[in-house]
Amino acid sequence: MVEAELSEVDADLVAVGLCEEDSLPAALAAAPGAADATGEAEKLTSLYPERPARVLAVGLGKRGELNAEKLRVAAALVAKEAGRRKASSLAWLLPESDDAAAAAGGVVTGTILGAYRFDRFKSADSERPALESLSLLAPGAVAAATETARIAAEAQNRARDLQSTPANFATPAALAARAEEIAAAHETVTVEVLGREEIAAKKMGGLIAVSQGSAEEPRLIVLRYAGGGGSTLGLVGKGVTFDTGGISLKPGAGMDEMKYDMSGAATVLEAVAEIAELGLAVDLIAVTPATENMPSGTAIKPGDVITQYNGTTVEVNNTDAEGRLILADALAYAIELGAERVVDLATLTGAVVIALGSTYAGVIANDDALAGEVERAGTTTGELTWRLPLHPEYTKLMKGTVADLSNLASKREAGTATAGAFLAEFVGETPWAHVDIAGTAWDVGRAYTGKDASGYGVRLLIELAHRFAA
Ligand code: BES
Ligand code: MN
Ligand code: ZN
Repeated sequence: MVEAELSEVDADLVAVGLCEEDSLPAALAAAPGAADATGEAEKLTSLYPERPARVLAVGLGKRGELNAEKLRVAAALVAKEAGRRKASSLAWLLPESDDAAAAAGGVVTGTILGAYRFDRFKSADSERPALESLSLLAPGAVAAATETARIAAEAQNRARDLQSTPANFATPAALAARAEEIAAAHETVTVEVLGREEIAAKKMGGLIAVSQGSAEEPRLIVLRYAGGGGSTLGLVGKGVTFDTGGISLKPGAGMDEMKYDMSGAATVLEAVAEIAELGLAVDLIAVTPATENMPSGTAIKPGDVITQYNGTTVEVNNTDAEGRLILADALAYAIELGAERVVDLATLTGAVVIALGSTYAGVIANDDALAGEVERAGTTTGELTWRLPLHPEYTKLMKGTVADLSNLASKREAGTATAGAFLAEFVGETPWAHVDIAGTAWDVGRAYTGKDASGYGVRLLIELAHRFAA
């Protein structure tokens, strides 16, 4: 049935997914180029039938190993090829599979993410027309799945826009403005933004300490979504709009990448927007602390003692371990506001990049069930997580000399676990999972994420909200 439609397809480029066991649809079997078509994964072959004019056979590997991830990758390769050929409309002929909806969703996700580029600051980049349409020729009922996939992938691309926006534009105030825009667009979403004075009045000592060296004012952004769910999920995103390290200054090489230190915030904001767009039956409280981390005459100094929102005192022995200070306040605040379980996303440690590279985000959790949900959600969306342990020995390494805690472990090893142990001190018994995205937020290098901002976590959080929805 689907094959019969092939010659009717009116698209600049038609992609035909091919497993190793498959042969080309009969209508294409005699087309020039057909002899070279292969089902080998990630291989593209050009065919030139008379109708449609341009066909790309896309290898998907063995049928038995076909999954949504393989289709995301294949679709992204096709989308990039479409870009090179200046094709603005694309059609995809999907192979038979066990889960047609998941397969179609994978193609939609891979296409939208693969076609993404950040060109806000490029003047007259009109050479490459954007991909304007995608039609799917798929067996089975896939409309609902493709619509959800489209909405989620577009949210992920918006998070990538926020991530990539340089720190002189993506300021704490700009993140707050985006949150206000999200609230204005959805009746079910409300926003509250606190400025420097209000943050100080609330005694959020971590956010005040990190922001005090910067001329750019901090913001504490709270988005609430009332979807009518049974329980309230808390989301917290690290929003350091630029991390110089402060007085414990980072080396100059590669410091520009620290504009991405607000990736957790970008993910949380855009995930809330899309969960509201999808109208999922879950309640959310999203808390985003946003600040720069700068060295200056007013900056926090190594050895200074601060008092966090929950009353715990902390010695700031390294001003570059700033993420945990702002997250400590935000986690305690989210729980006070009624979050019954909390997930935070943060580009928190260089150590997680050493441990897991860009393939997995690190998870530290005080609750097996929540850690399991996060892991399964990420497996579904291709945003993989790997759990690292919490242990009292790690907590011990975070004890302060003159204050309750230090923000710097007394040993350098296990930097992701000790950072997690620090955060755990601020969530009490509330089920909590911390996702360290320092390795996955950019420079991932998968076909559909590219080398720059990845938007990691947006689809994971939407999937997680699905799982918690009533
Ligand atoms: N934002 C960084 C972590 C980071 C490093 C993210 C590299 C992505 C790539 C964080 O604020 C930081 O500086 N962490 C320090 C902590 C250390 C001083 C205990 C680190 O990981 O080196
Ligand atoms: Mn830092
Ligand atoms: Zn940081």
